[in-house]
Parts: sequence; structure tokens; C-alpha cells
Amino acid sequence: MALASLRWGSTFLVVLIIFQCVCMMFYKQNTPSFGDVMTDTFQKMGCAKLRHKFSVIKPAKSIKFKSFAREVSDFLSCPYKSNETEQELNRIRLRFCCNATESFVLTKRNTAVNQSIPYETNSRRTYKMNADVHKLLPEDSPWSAGALGLCAVVGSSGILKNSSCGRQIDSADYVIRFNLALINDSDVGLKTNLITINPSQIRGYRNLEKKPGPLVKRVSVYGNSSLIIPAFAYVICTSPSLRVLRVLQPIRPQQPVLFFSPHYLRALDRFWKGRGLKERRLSTGFMLISAALEMCEHVHVYGFWPFGTDLQENPIPYHYYDQMRSGSVHRMPEEFLRLLQLHSQGALTLHLQPCDTH
Ligand SMILES: *[C@@H]1O[C@H](CO)[C@@H](O)[C@H](O)[C@H]1NC(C)=O
Ligand SMILES: *[C@@H]1O[C@H](CO)[C@@H](O)[C@H](O)[C@H]1NC(C)=O
Ligand SMILES: *[C@@H]1O[C@H](CO)[C@@H](O)[C@H](O)[C@H]1NC(C)=O
Ligand SMILES: *[C@@H]1O[C@H](CO)[C@@H](O)[C@H](O)[C@H]1NC(C)=O
Ligand SMILES: *[C@@H]1O[C@H](CO)[C@@H](O)[C@H](O)[C@H]1NC(C)=O
Ligand SMILES: *[C@@H]1O[C@H](CO)[C@@H](O)[C@H](O)[C@H]1NC(C)=O
Repeated sequence: MALASLRWGSTFLVVLIIFQCVCMMFYKQNTPSFGDVMTDTFQKMGCAKLRHKFSVIKPAKSIKFKSFAREVSDFLSCPYKSNETEQELNRIRLRFCCNATESFVLTKRNTAVNQSIPYETNSRRTYKMNADVHKLLPEDSPWSAGALGLCAVVGSSGILKNSSCGRQIDSADYVIRFNLALINDSDVGLKTNLITINPSQIRGYRNLEKKPGPLVKRVSVYGNSSLIIPAFAYVICTSPSLRVLRVLQPIRPQQPVLFFSPHYLRALDRFWKGRGLKERRLSTGFMLISAALEMCEHVHVYGFWPFGTDLQENPIPYHYYDQMRSGSVHRMPEEFLRLLQLHSQGALTLHLQPCDTH
């Protein structure tokens, strides 16, 4: 076996050399050197190996970070291979299970007055949709019109700091962000179409009904982008979320306040559990990437890197925009391995390196 591959290897080398000489006879300029051809060949083999390796999910516990970071770095330097078939398969699977296009957010169409809304994390608790709140829901899903084109989903990892990815992110057709994160033209871009609010972020706004100014100012930064809140994740999320809806709707009708549908999120949770992703609750980031895989033509993912150092092992902050330290309840490394798998399958494009700025 070894001998055979050795023989095959030397035949290959001889062919390469002949090929190289013939080329040199015809093209004196602009031809890659022998070294370049060899490097290229080895690189292709290395890339194929890594692509296969990352397409198989292993438990995150078994990862040795040092070699993992090097391999991820090498892999992301490989030419990206998009696979339209795989993208379409994911769209169909997700539409079949979860139907984000129709059911991602609560609307007048998919929710009736007096309907019992089960809580996402506890179906024994329900919220009865009252007529006043129902009146403030959007008529229909904002996404039922068709595919969203190229989407950028921008996470909050410190890896975005000094990334210069702003321009590339802003060139997407649809940009999704999280937790009212700061925007900034150089590293993360300014364009925003959908941004999440964590109900815990509302606590800082005292007396919202009488003094809506500070929150209005905070959300105006994102132009007319939709604000989306997990209002029915836990019981304690509901009242701050309803306050945001009641306060902002009359003041900024051009900026819709949306609520995640707990039906959608429960279906999505089952979908990923069925694929071996066992965690208490998916991260909001992973939820929105899943929705994007269904609703967008292409998905580019930035700022999802749940580790304390970058690919070159330099320490990075947990978030690109604040001093918070890691303390997450989510099993982010497990989710990250899924993203790497989707990248290796050509289903989405993961960005972890600084962007080209020419
Ligand atoms: C693209 O994905 C499909 C479905 O998973 C797979 O059958 C096919 O081999 C992939 N194509 C390439 C070029 O990898
Ligand atoms: C998605 O939901 C809408 C509205 O409930 C329904 O008309 C459509 O058939 C659903 N699509 C799938 C694939 O289930
Ligand atoms: C909702 O329930 C209230 C009282 O429980 C009732 O008065 C009202 O007619 C109901 N509305 C609808 C649309 O069913
Ligand atoms: C963007 O944010 C980075 C840190 O993430 C900072 O170094 C840079 O100065 C900011 N640029 C602008 C234009 O605010
Ligand atoms: C936001 O919506 C308002 C009102 O519909 C409109 O006048 C304005 O041009 C919009 N702004 C952007 C940036 O699209
Ligand atoms: C970003 O760049 C600044 C200045 O060039 C540097 O001081 C800082 O350490 C860098 N931060 C990261 C996380 O790379």
C-alpha cells in the first residue's frame, strides 16, 4: 500500500516536472514556479483533509485548543467551496420543520386574540394574547415576500475588534445584529435590518412610559431596522417586552418591534436536538443563523468565535464592544462546531480573519 502510493507519488512528480518544463518552454513569463505548483498541490490536499475533518461533529470537550485554532486558521485560508445543493437542502429542511418565513415572529395573521401563547422554555405557562397587544402586532410576516439575498449575521465576539470587516458587512443585502450592539463603520459596519433586544437590557430604562427619550435615542441609531425581542422565552421577559412595544410603536412606527414566536423557537429547538445539539436553550445567535439559512440566499457569519484568544492565540475580549467576561449559559463551543460543519459543507461562510480592505 505504502509502496504503491510512493510509486504513484513519484509518477505524479515526474508528470509535474514534465508539465512544468513544457509550460516553461511556451510561457517564459507569468508562470508559477515549480515550488508554487507543489505548494498549491499540497495546499489542496490539506484543504480537502480539513474540509472532511470539520464536516464530522466531535464533542467540543475533546478539542485541544492550540491545534484546533491552527487547523481552523488553515481551513479558513482554503478557497471556499459553496454548495448550492446543500444550501437548498437546508432551506427545505428548516422550512419543513420550523417555517421561519411565516412563523418566525408573532403576527396578526398567525396569532388570534385570546389565543394562548405557550412559553418557549415552559409550555405549562402561557400568555393570553389580549386585544390591545394584538393590535400592535405586524399584519403579516415581514419575510413572506421572498428570499432575502445575501445576509450577514454579525455576532458579538471580540474577534471582530480591528477586523476591518465593516465595509464587507455593509455590502450585504440584509444585516442581522444582536443585543443592541454598537455599530462602527470600520470593524462591524453600520447597516442594520434586524437587531435583537435582550429583555434584561430594558431594565436600565426606568419609567419608560414617561421618559421614552433614552430608549428612542438608543434604537434610532439603527435607522428603520426591525427590533426583535424574545418576549415569551421566560415569564419575566414578557412585561418589559410589552412595554417596549407599547412605548416605541406610536413614536417610531417606521421601526417595527417584533416578538419571536415561541412556536417557531420550540420547533427549532427540536430540530437541532434531533441533530445531536443538546443544550438547554439555543443561543439567540444560533437561532438567527438558523432562520437566515431558511430565509436568505447566502449566509455570511461574522463575530461567532466563543474562545478567549484569536486564531493566532492573541487574547481577545469576549465582546467587541464592552469589557464583559465570558459567563454564558449557552454551549457556544458546540454551536461553533456546527457552524464550522456548515462552512465545510458549503452551506454558509464563516468569517474569523480580518477582512481585505483594498
Ligand atoms: C453538495 O451537497 C450535496 C448534498 O449534501 C452532496 O451530495 C454533494 O456531493 C455536494 N457537492 C460537492 C461538490 O461537494
Ligand atoms: C409555512 O406556514 C404557512 C402559514 O402557516 C403555510 O401556508 C405554509 O404552507 C408553511 N410552509 C411549510 C413548508 O410548511
Ligand atoms: C376575548 O376574551 C374576552 C373575555 O375573555 C371576550 O370578551 C372577547 O370577546 C374575546 N375576543 C375574541 C376575539 O374572542
Ligand atoms: C471601531 O471600533 C474599534 C474597536 O472595535 C475602534 O478601535 C475603532 O476606533 C472604532 N472606529 C470607529 C470609527 O468608531
Ligand atoms: C425610515 O422611515 C421613514 C418613515 O417611513 C422614512 O422617511 C425614512 O427615509 C426611513 N429611513 C431610512 C434610512 O430608510
Ligand atoms: C486593536 O488595535 C489597537 C491599535 O492598533 C491595539 O491597541 C489593540 O490591542 C488591538 N486590539 C485587538 C483586540 O487586537
